[in-house]
Amino acid sequence: MSRRILITGGAGFVGSTMALGLAQRYPDWQITALDNLKRRGSELNLPHLKQAEIEFVHGDVRNKEDLDPSVLTPDLILECSAEPSVLAGYVSPGYLLQTNLVGTINCLELARQTQADFIFLSTSRVYPIAYLNKLQYSETETRFQLLEEQSLVGASSHGISEEFPLDKARSLYGTTKLASELLITEYGETFGLKTLINRCGVLTGPWQMGKVDQGVFALWMAFHYFQKNLKYIGYGGTGKQVRDFLHVEDLLDLIDLQIQKLDKFNGQTFNVGGGITNTLSLYETTQLCQEITGNQVEITPVPDNRIGDVPIFITDSRQVITATGWQPKRDARKTLTDIYEWICQREAQVRDIFA
Ligand SMILES: NC(=O)c1ccc[n+]([C@@H]2O[C@H](COP(=O)([O-])OP(=O)(O)OC[C@H]3O[C@@H](n4cnc5c(N)ncnc54)[C@H](O)[C@@H]3O)[C@@H](O)[C@H]2O)c1
Repeated sequence: MSRRILITGGAGFVGSTMALGLAQRYPDWQITALDNLKRRGSELNLPHLKQAEIEFVHGDVRNKEDLDPSVLTPDLILECSAEPSVLAGYVSPGYLLQTNLVGTINCLELARQTQADFIFLSTSRVYPIAYLNKLQYSETETRFQLLEEQSLVGASSHGISEEFPLDKARSLYGTTKLASELLITEYGETFGLKTLINRCGVLTGPWQMGKVDQGVFALWMAFHYFQKNLKYIGYGGTGKQVRDFLHVEDLLDLIDLQIQKLDKFNGQTFNVGGGITNTLSLYETTQLCQEITGNQVEITPVPDNRIGDVPIFITDSRQVITATGWQPKRDARKTLTDIYEWICQREAQVRDIFA
């Protein structure tokens, strides 16, 4: 069935990968990417979108006029626009609140008026910081490691599941996402829209314009490539903090499957991440980056923790795996190598982004 898909944040890392991937898989779909190009480097995606015959709309989700149902008539909205940095909420909350919350409302209003299905990119950051800081973990030579025994519901050595408690503070970033989730569920129920929410852990891969506060794996590889110094911030400055990561192409496989079977998954909320088999500490990331690039950079330990940070997060994705049959396929070496090859090919273009 031919589809008309609107991808908000469609020039960003996730949005553009979804747009290009879906356009390649389904040449008869009409895909529109809407973005205000706030994220530095998103403009580099515009030529690829054009080449793939994806319509680009320079628009802003904060303005409801930019989501006019007499102009945009999607049958599915994939909401990938955001200020995706936790730290941004501490530094300049205004833009984050407007984009991540008012933006979702404007997108939902377009969905209501066009009766479009709605898939939302939420975040593992909906889970409260105080609870994540209560996770029990041991320390090995290279990383922190979750213990099997955990005191909180929804936590185990498999990571954090959808049952993890939600009743404390979580950063303004996480709060705008959780508030958006509530509104999406409500719009689904009230206006009969088909909706689906993916609470994603760390996503990474080529075309991620990584920054210290967002997109750390891409940043780590780029800094090795361009031989720039790094810092291990927090937790004693040892680099043992751990995240699971999901290659953005694995996310594409999942979103594709979800679009095809939205009737089945309607109304659900899934934790989506690489899971226990795809985890890295910063220290281990350094080792892999050194092996892949052949470069070694100076890494300064900064013992004090950064505001809003957590020592370990691993997504327990078993629910989405059971429901859909999807599995992440790309491991750490493949993921970091893909980022490395992208930087090699685009060195001149991306050098300034990682400056
Ligand atoms: N990358 C991750 O690790 C990760 C993890 C969990 C959830 N997410 C979520 O996935 C989605 C995509 O994130 P990403 O990594 O691609 O980030 P990104 O910054 O690369 O992409 C977001 C895009 O939204 C655009 N944008 C920002 N404000 C806008 C506005 N007001 N109007 C229109 N466009 C606007 C930016 O220019 C950018 O191109 C976000 O919702 C993010 O919260 C990302």
